[in-house]
Amino acid sequence: MVTATTTSIISEDRTRGADILKKAKDEFPTPESTVVKKRRLSSVSSDSEVVEKSFKKQQKKSLNLSAPLLERSRSQSALVITHFDDPYDLNKEHPYPELRPYEVLIKNKVVGLNHVDWKAKKFKFAIYSFPWVNGRESSGVVVSHGTKVDDTKLPVNQRVFIVSTSYRDIRTSTFQEYTAIDSRLVWKLPGSFSFENGATIGVGLVTSGMAFHSWGYASSNDRIEKNSKTMLIWGGSSVVALYAMQFAKYFGFKVVSIASEKNAEYIKSFGCDLVVDRHLGFEKIEEIIHSEVKHIDYALDCVSRETSELSLKLIQKVNGEDDDSKSYFIPLVAKPKAEIPKNVQMEEVFIKKFHEDIKLGEEFVNFSTSLFENGNLKPVRHRTFHGGLKGIVDGLLQLEEKGASAEKYVASF
Ligand SMILES: NC(=O)c1ccc[n+]([C@@H]2O[C@H](COP(=O)([O-])OP(=O)(O)OC[C@H]3O[C@@H](n4cnc5c(N)ncnc54)[C@H](OP(=O)(O)O)[C@@H]3O)[C@@H](O)[C@H]2O)c1
Repeated sequence: MVTATTTSIISEDRTRGADILKKAKDEFPTPESTVVKKRRLSSVSSDSEVVEKSFKKQQKKSLNLSAPLLERSRSQSALVITHFDDPYDLNKEHPYPELRPYEVLIKNKVVGLNHVDWKAKKFKFAIYSFPWVNGRESSGVVVSHGTKVDDTKLPVNQRVFIVSTSYRDIRTSTFQEYTAIDSRLVWKLPGSFSFENGATIGVGLVTSGMAFHSWGYASSNDRIEKNSKTMLIWGGSSVVALYAMQFAKYFGFKVVSIASEKNAEYIKSFGCDLVVDRHLGFEKIEEIIHSEVKHIDYALDCVSRETSELSLKLIQKVNGEDDDSKSYFIPLVAKPKAEIPKNVQMEEVFIKKFHEDIKLGEEFVNFSTSLFENGNLKPVRHRTFHGGLKGIVDGLLQLEEKGASAEKYVASF
């Protein structure tokens, strides 16, 4: 366990300012990328209205919840955003979420921290009304069930981990004591995993899993001959990359990644075949990769617009400009400004697919559960911030100012 302190070391490559806003718009396509400026919003989405009405309703209405704890207490602690420019409100009187028929209520034990959590407040996007709650993933225990949930599959006290890709519905956010989530999209936490382990998984797993899904790799039937195709990952020590390379190895890819030398051994422990030091400069990076790889078939950039442009350049250099076989490229953070060559197919990842297409999401939960059980997937290492909601604030500040390096920041309640 590491006790974190706030520092002001700014990562040299951190995407900033206008680039972050552009990236946010990439991550939250229109109309979700609409920047909201007013305290009370006239253009609140219909989804958000439903959530707000539901909150008001739930304060009046008596709920039929199974957990005795909840019968005694109708409010919960939450890290509330009251306005973009106000400090976080550590609120002990926030209403807890009303359950829909297929949902379960999770009591969060440990939450994962993501860049979008601090960026959304700072750069004023993906927050649709006030008071607002962020938080996209957690681990915890089941405390109650909606009317259509089979409670034998997810009994009370079942240890679980979850991811919330429903950015507009704050009932599903995790920076609060209790989260409502669709029961079909809940993973049981493997017995050997701690709650901290569980909180590292959701966003990285679903983001990388949806990338592979969009490329047509979604089940054990999609495995290819070992090392018959090569995948390039720029930013190999990012959390998303560490999950992506585990999927890549499972499906049969050779994986090369660009990351800091200090993290090379750790990255290789996730199956990565070659780690090239990101500080070497493009020419040297290209020379090393070219000597080891004949063709880059798939590429994932996990860092910035600048590195997505370098990834594209690397694909062209390694494959040759006259290459007539297609390569597939996902810039996770920001699209390159450069023109995309005909032999490169660029795609976007829409992690919302996970909850919008319940069948897809459910299949992904079952598939990835089997990979955890068989040891094909493992959680990344973590740094824990303590102190409940205050720990989340400390962790987000450190994520913004210093950045994580080959580890996931989590905060325990
Ligand atoms: N589009 C989506 O749906 C979606 C979903 C999830 C995340 N994201 C975005 O994806 C990005 C990654 O997220 P994350 O949580 O996985 O990030 P993270 O773990 O915080 O990534 C930090 C890592 O980036 C590496 N890095 C920084 N500059 C680099 C460079 N020039 N070359 C290579 N590596 C570099 C650092 O490597 P070293 O420490 O080794 O130097 C560090 O380990 C974030 O921008 C996030 O907002 C997008």
